[in-house]
Parts: sequence; structure tokens; C-alpha cells
Amino acid sequence: WGATGHRVVGEIAQKYLKGKAKREVKRLLKQHSLAFASTYGDEIKSDKAYNKYYTWHYVNMPFDQSYETSEKNPEGDLVTGIETCKAVLLDKTATDEDKAFHLKMLIHLMGDLHQPMHVGLAEDKGGNDVKLQWFYKDTNLHRVWDSDMIEEYNMGYDELADNADALTKKQIKALQEGTIVDWVNETHDITKEVYASVEPNENLRYRYSYNHFKTVRSQLQIAGIRLAKVLNDIF
Ligand code: ADE
Ligand code: ZN
Ligand code: ZN
Repeated sequence: WGATGHRVVGEIAQKYLKGKAKREVKRLLKQHSLAFASTYGDEIKSDKAYNKYYTWHYVNMPFDQSYETSEKNPEGDLVTGIETCKAVLLDKTATDEDKAFHLKMLIHLMGDLHQPMHVGLAEDKGGNDVKLQWFYKDTNLHRVWDSDMIEEYNMGYDELADNADALTKKQIKALQEGTIVDWVNETHDITKEVYASVEPNENLRYRYSYNHFKTVRSQLQIAGIRLAKVLNDIF
């Protein structure tokens, strides 16, 4: 996701944090919000010192496979990245500085885990090489889902988070069940529909958002609800 998508995830998660997690997260983030911290993972990409975290933002899988059966990236991926962040946050010997870094990464990566094109094919770099147009402007399938649809909506992250569908306690609990790997596989089912939703070099317009923005919104909402669950479990 672009900055807006990540901030929506952070803002939604904030609402579902419980007392202990809320306090500890606030302390580690030096009073900043989850929405504010959510974009850190992309901000450090321009600094070579953080190159080794690049592959944590995505995982690639062929359509007919799941995370368990697919070939793993030895440099790490979304799943190993998230598991590393969780382990550091649970490590009693880790410093607050190290915990703060991995907390910011975790907030970011839980968002990416729910962006269908971050669970895409390796051969087109998660849709980055699927060339398209968005209202006659050059773009690609990855970017349409990261930001083009969201920016076209022209709403602040707080409004986008606020307008999320009201869910019952039971629905929230159901969404919070499962493992990181289950959630990657669930996103991957949507990924296949996203690939099937475009023709090569298509010029996408209102109709595309009309058909797919509901998926963007629900993925952002689910990501926020699950991020809160992961943090509530850790703290
Ligand atoms: N960004 C850069 N490379 C990528 C890939 N292979 N999959 C998803 N996102 C990416
Ligand atoms: Zn992206
Ligand atoms: Zn990212």
C-alpha cells in the first residue's frame, strides 16, 4: 500500500488495542500513533543501511500453490519478516530501540500482508511489470492496488478508517482467528482474482474502482483488526 493505505490500517488497529498493548505500544512509539508509525517501513527504503529488509514487504507465489508449498525466498519474505518482528517484541533481552524498530516494521508489514499484489507472482514482480493506464496515465497493476484506487477516492486516512463497515464482535473474532500463513494464503486467493480483473495495457477508469474498491476497503479493515490481534497477543 501507499502511505494512505498503511495509515488506514494503523488507525483501525488503534481502535481494537487492549489496555496493556495500547500502553506498551504508545511507550515504544514515543507517544506517536500507529497511523504515524505505519509508513516507517517504506521511509527507510531509500537508506542502503536497511536494504536487507526490502524482501520483507512481499511474498511471491504461483497461482496453484500456497505459502507452505511454494519456494521460499532465502533473503526473507512477509511471513519471515512478521515472525522476526514478533520474536524481537517477545524477547525480554531486546532493547527498547530494537523493539521500537520491529514494532514499526510489524505495523507496516501487517498492512502489506493484506495487499493482494504483495502476495503476487515473482515473474512480474507482484504486478509491477503488468503495464496499465489509470485514467490515461501510465501505471501498473501493483500501483493501482497500492495507491491509484485509494488516491482517486480522495479521502483522508482517518475518514477512510472511520467509514469502515461496522462489524459485530463475532465477526471480528472470526477475522482474528488463524495464523500469519493462513492470512497470506487468504490474501493469495484474492490475488488471483485481481490478476484476472485486467486485460494487458487496459485503461482503467471509474468502472474498475466501482468493482474493486470494496475489496481494498475490506482488506484494509481486516489488516487493522488482525494487527490489533497480533499486538494484543504480544503485550
Ligand atoms: N516489489 C518489488 N518486487 C516485488 C515482488 N516480487 N513482489 C511484490 N512486490 C514487489
Ligand atoms: Zn506495494
Ligand atoms: Zn511495504
